[in-house]
Amino acid sequence: MQDTEEPSSLEGEVRSAAALRRTFAIISHPDAGKTTLTEKLLLYSGMIRTAGMVRGRKGGKTATSDWMSMEQERGISITASAMQFPYKGATINVLDTPGHQDFCEDTYRTLTAADSAIMVIDAAKGVETQTRKLFPVCRMRGIPVLTFINKMDVPGRDPLDLMTEVEDVLGIQACAVNWPAGSGSEFQGVAERANRELLRFSRAATGGAAKAIIERAPLAEMDQHLEPEIAGKLRADLELLDGAGNLFERDKFLSGQVTPVFFGSALTNFGVEPFFDAFVKLAPPPGVRLADRAGGGELAIDPAQNSFSAYVFKLQGNMDPRHRDSIAFMRVCSGRFERDMVVKHHRLDKKVRLARSHSMFARERNTVDLAYPGDIVGVINPGIFAIGDTISLSGGYDFKPLPQFMPEVFAQVRPTTVAKRKSFDKGMLQFTQEGTVQLLRRWDTDAPFVAAVGRLQFEVLQYRMRDEYGVETYLEMMPYECSAWLEGDAETFQSPTNSLLAKDQRGRPVVMFGGHWEKNYAISQNPNHRFLNVS
Ligand code: G4P
Repeated sequence: MQDTEEPSSLEGEVRSAAALRRTFAIISHPDAGKTTLTEKLLLYSGMIRTAGMVRGRKGGKTATSDWMSMEQERGISITASAMQFPYKGATINVLDTPGHQDFCEDTYRTLTAADSAIMVIDAAKGVETQTRKLFPVCRMRGIPVLTFINKMDVPGRDPLDLMTEVEDVLGIQACAVNWPAGSGSEFQGVAERANRELLRFSRAATGGAAKAIIERAPLAEMDQHLEPEIAGKLRADLELLDGAGNLFERDKFLSGQVTPVFFGSALTNFGVEPFFDAFVKLAPPPGVRLADRAGGGELAIDPAQNSFSAYVFKLQGNMDPRHRDSIAFMRVCSGRFERDMVVKHHRLDKKVRLARSHSMFARERNTVDLAYPGDIVGVINPGIFAIGDTISLSGGYDFKPLPQFMPEVFAQVRPTTVAKRKSFDKGMLQFTQEGTVQLLRRWDTDAPFVAAVGRLQFEVLQYRMRDEYGVETYLEMMPYECSAWLEGDAETFQSPTNSLLAKDQRGRPVVMFGGHWEKNYAISQNPNHRFLNVS
């Protein structure tokens, strides 16, 4: 902080900057349209002039925010990065979350850095498994969720049916902010319920690459603008919604009880701009975060009143082969970040200088001189930052630990040649710190092995070992399918056959089971122990 500045003026500056921030993540099942919607957000913010510059996914697309070579080869988004750009006066921070289900764990951690989430649902498919898995994490963190029902330009399910499914499957009230006029090739626009307007969309001459053209008319005049059949269905649906549907209340949205629902097509841009506009209006700016006080008890950290604080939610090694370094991504929770500032590293109890701070936009690194609550800053990590670390100017507290999810696949991994042992160990340290895989050790012999939420994480481990450390590896799967952290005395734990007791990197006992039957059996046989799926 500069000495010349009155604290109150700094507080005012931080408060105004924080109020403009919208930091969010998109949750969806693969292929629902997350990448396309993100790209359209860039189009509407003016960051890119035409969409589709980002090459086709199946043909080896790299969305602007995915860049690792394996992502390009496979067409999946593996790492989570963040992008910042202005949108109509707001400052948007999009946290990119991996789409593949095996990368849930990274997504879970990324969601802790978000203030809200956008849930993208494919109108033909409804609520799919990955969405079902990720939604409870938003609930656990109390993050408000907006719903975008995508692909309305292709034949899909009835909108009322989709609303009911969101409510039944996810257990949240769905409130339609707008309603589609027609669907499939007849998808012509949306009715905005609050201001009783009909928005009709037409494609720009260049199709979905450019912004859609919007014409507005009072809803009462819908018959002049829509075919009789489409107008008839729209009128009937709206009457039904007005009579029985939930009224939108912002408080209930902010507390996670209601999700506002929007319809559109990311591909054709129909309904995209009204959705983004509503998102900026509805989504909350960074708020108070709870922390554990060093001496015990909790502390509420206010974005503007408290001086600079942040926590590390992601580590990413070797992001750029030209740099060969590791970056710690931190979410600013309070105060103003300044490049080169000296802060307290709470876990190590020492002072560190935050030099070489970056924000990421695709492959480009931009130096960050200033950042405010809600912003994501990447700093070069010379091995001192671990996931969950808190840093601040004042010290004396730690943000709540990040959740860890129970691993479901386990393997022994070793280099194919002994000569590569050193590089292998270096790589393992990097990947376990990043959270690509977890390192566990047998309780009895201390022998190490790796664990992950999904099989693909092992493939990434082997790929990156080869690509970044030049080490070929053998991987031998272990015969366990689920696990749990054990609370209680590990020595008195009655282990069923086909189970294995191990310890995690913090020395906590973890049990692996051959299957869910064995796990349930162990739970029934050990009434004095607790079994946790999330630590
Ligand atoms: P994801 O990130 O959620 O995995 O999905 P992504 O945006 O990559 O979209 C998956 C596929 O769905 C892509 O087609 C994309 O073009 C298509 N898509 C996205 N939004 C819409 C929409 O509103 N309407 C229609 N009709 N299609 C949509 P693809 O053929 O798999 O890849 P591509 O080669 O077209 O990129």
